[in-house]
Order: sequence, then C-alpha cells, then structure tokens
Amino acid sequence: MDKKIVSVRGAITAQNTVKSITECSVRLIDAIYLRNGISDDDVVNVTFSLTDDVTAFYPARAVREAGHNVPLFSTLEPKIDGALTSCIRVLVTCYSDKPVRNVYLNGARVLRPDLCAVYSVALDGPSGAGKSTVAKAVAKKLGITYLDTGALYRALGLKLINFSVPSDDPKAVEKCLKNVQVGIKYTDGVQSVLLDGEDVSGKIRTPEVSMAASNCSAIPYVREKLLSLQRDIAKSQSVILDGRDIGTVVLPESEFKFYLTASPEERARRRYEELKAKGEKVTFEGVLEDVNKRDKNDMTRKIAPLKKSYDAIEVNSDNMTADEVIDYVVGIIAEAL
Ligand code: DC
Repeated sequence: MDKKIVSVRGAITAQNTVKSITECSVRLIDAIYLRNGISDDDVVNVTFSLTDDVTAFYPARAVREAGHNVPLFSTLEPKIDGALTSCIRVLVTCYSDKPVRNVYLNGARVLRPDLCAVYSVALDGPSGAGKSTVAKAVAKKLGITYLDTGALYRALGLKLINFSVPSDDPKAVEKCLKNVQVGIKYTDGVQSVLLDGEDVSGKIRTPEVSMAASNCSAIPYVREKLLSLQRDIAKSQSVILDGRDIGTVVLPESEFKFYLTASPEERARRRYEELKAKGEKVTFEGVLEDVNKRDKNDMTRKIAPLKKSYDAIEVNSDNMTADEVIDYVVGIIAEAL
C-alpha cells in the first residue's frame, strides 16, 4: 500500500498544571506515533485543542521542547455544556500506509469509543520473571491500563495472615474471606490495592505474604472471587494483565499473549537483590528455596495452574535486560495494532 495523507485523532485528560499538560501532550503524541508506526518524518502537522479549563501551558510547546521537529499548533475550544472537561485533543496529519489507529488515553475514550479498538495483553509467567516491571513499562508506552493480578492474591494472603488463618486450609480460608472486599484504585495510572477499604499496596510485598498468596491461590473459592474483578477491568478498556492464568483462564481471548520466564536461579537472584535493597534480612539460598516452592505450588495446583497458553509467545529473559524485553513486547503489539 502506498503512503497517503491521513489524520489520526487523539485525546487525553490532564490536570491544569504545566507538568501535567507537558507529560500528557508528549505521552499522547508518543502513543500515536507508536501505534501508527510513524515518526516526525511522516508528519505534515499536529494541531492540539484544549478545553477552556486547561490553560497552564501550550501542548505544542511541550511537544516541541520534547524534541519533535514538526509544525505544531495549539488552540482553545469553545465551552460547550456537558462536554468532557480537562481534555487535550489532537489531530495528527501524516503520511502513512497503515490503517489509522486513534488514541484516547486517561479516560478520554468516552469521547469517541467508536474510534478506538479495545485489546488486551496477557503476560503470564513464574514469580520473579520480571512480569510487573515489563507490564508496567509496556502499559505506559502503549497508554493502556496495567493490572497486577498477583497483588489481588497478595491482598487476600495478607488478610489471612492478619487473622492468623492457615492459607492452605480451604474451609478456614473461605470462612475468613467470605465478606472480604478487594478493589483496585488508579491514581495517575499507578495501581493501589484496597483490602476492605484500606490501601495495602505497601504491605503485600513481603516473603510471608508471597507464600500466603501462592497457597490461597490454589483454592477454587479464592480464584472464583477474583475472576470477575479481573474480567471487569478488561471489559471496557485496553489492558495488560500480569499473572499466572491470564492467557489460559482469565482472558483466553486476549489479542496478545506472552509467557515470560527465566531460570529459577536468575529469578531468585533478582528477587534477592530487590529484597536486600529494601533492607530485608534474606539469604540467596532462602529466596531460591521460596522461588522453587512457589513454582511448585503455582504449577502443580489443580485449578488454573501456571502454564504457557498454547498461543502465547515465550520470552526467556535469562540473557535479556528489562528494556530489551519491554521493547520486544511493545514491538510485537505495536506492529499488529
Ligand atoms: O505475581 P505475584 O508474585 O505477585 O503473585 C503472588 C501469588 O499469587 C503467586 O505465587 C500465585 C498467585 N497468582 C495466581 O495464582 N494467579 C495470578 N493471576 C496471579 C498471581
């Protein structure tokens, strides 16, 4: 297909500060370039418009200062009753030989749900393979929502510990978790996990919680409880979920599936460094033992065990940096969008 002139639309909601307008405008342009496979060389011009409550800075200037050497223009929209507020819109006119991919970020999707495709990315793999680092970065680059599903199991594990309930006793676990409320909150794109209304994000990364999460995640009642929460989040927006059974059980219809793995020794080494940096008293041997135990738990449980979906792309990160894995995953997705 020959290149022809096309117009790509985009929008993002932002706060009325120089920082927010700068970050959001650049993120919007970067996501449009990435998803449409274009660069400055392809662009004819870029026109931003702002709702009249976003006046702290010019998106055109932000994008120019970020190094984009293209004709840029910003303008203010009329105030229309009932219109989405705090919004930066953009029209990128460019040469392209691909179908147009419009980009709506930070809730701006409500403006034109008809213009954007929803897709999901499943990223499964054993503990310590680097899933959350990769998923977070991929989500940011593509402007989609990240859900760390392990955090949900960890929140339940924490509750069991708080109530001194053995995490491998199905009856006791069910009784303790009968009325539990687990929720997710996003602040500026960062996920927090709520356990019975309390933000427990800072309390769920200990080895003790890891083991309780792994144990209770083998219990059907627990998995059932978290299934609809995960699916609901993926229903109305593009997402990347990391976990153990995303490609096989939670979102078997995902457009993109990856299985990220690394040897137990390499995974233990990474986790050991991470815990040591946090000041935790751990030994490498202890961490390796935990890794092997959790692998066994996660891979051999009867319900939704960790396994590579037949249609997932396997990535072994033993000899790859995090950035290499991220670029590889983003590349595959961006190519297909
Ligand atoms: O990814 P993580 O280490 O934060 O996950 C903690 C535990 O939760 C893990 O050992 C297994 C379980 N888990 C799961 O069974 N299914 C998921 N989708 C995510 C996590």
